Amino acid sequence: MGATDMTPRDALMRLGASTAEAIAQVLEMFAPGKVTVGDPVTAVDSKAAFHGLRVPAVAMSVSYVDGVTGGNVFVMPLQGARALAAAMMGEAPPEDEATELTELELSAVGEASNQMMAAAAGAIGVVLGQEIEISPPDIQVLDDPAAAAGIYGSSPHATTTTFMIAGEACRLIQLVPNAFVVRMVKGQTSFDPAKVDAAFNQWTETAQKLPGLFPDNSKTGDKTRAAPKIWQAKADFDAKAAAFGKVVAENRDKAKASLDGLKVAVAAVGKACDNCHEDYRLPEQ
Ligand code: HEC
Repeated sequence: MGATDMTPRDALMRLGASTAEAIAQVLEMFAPGKVTVGDPVTAVDSKAAFHGLRVPAVAMSVSYVDGVTGGNVFVMPLQGARALAAAMMGEAPPEDEATELTELELSAVGEASNQMMAAAAGAIGVVLGQEIEISPPDIQVLDDPAAAAGIYGSSPHATTTTFMIAGEACRLIQLVPNAFVVRMVKGQTSFDPAKVDAAFNQWTETAQKLPGLFPDNSKTGDKTRAAPKIWQAKADFDAKAAAFGKVVAENRDKAKASLDGLKVAVAAVGKACDNCHEDYRLPEQ
């Protein structure tokens, strides 16, 4: 499917999935192995997106500030927020059923919220091809699901995605301005074949230069992450550089053809980067 035949629903699903993925990555960092993400679903309206929330819940949110109404709200049952805070502090999940967060828990959750909301805005910016301005993140404890919808305002479109954090069902609610959907449906995304071409030129050049970047007399260096193995297995290293160049060449047309093609191409190129790094790049010191 090309960017041009995208329906509003496709646009919402794509936006929802990218945002959820970005948030999941942050959560996974804080609570490794304890996070799963469902698929986004569209809500009838923004009020319905809040329907059936379990309370008390901790809601993190940001709103968009560039003249459009909408934002992201991530709602965690109190127990889920406490489990996240415990994971961040390297502790076992709490077993008691407290009805509010301690200062320490609140500050951990606040830190998670900052990063989740920033990652979400970044992902949305990539999907829309435009930087998204957001308000500073807000955290509230919700006691009344019916009132929740009123707090965050209404938007023409909304999606929800279910997350499980340490067994607690959490919900990402995206309140999506019409402008976002229009921008995506019209295909006015960041997808720009000229920019793609420039990136592939750069990679082609890198692939050609790589074998020459590590001459015999360059084995030492203060901050190098180049593995000594490069000089022991130079032929294999050069072969990996060549393989990288080949993947770049083979994926170029696909990447320039469409956004979906670009995604596939970037994944393939990324694999070739990793394939060399695994053997020849030392971990960060
Ligand atoms: C043939 C091997 C090879 C391929 C292919 C390769 N790299 Fe590297 N890369 C290295 C080595 C070796 C280093 C460590 C160099 C050093 O620290 O001197 C490195 C370092 C890096 C660094 C870290 C720089 C730093 O100072 O920490 C980044 C970022 C990077 N590569 C990105 C990429 C990307 C992106 C691609 C693919 C588009 C790629 N590389 C493909 C071998 C490769």
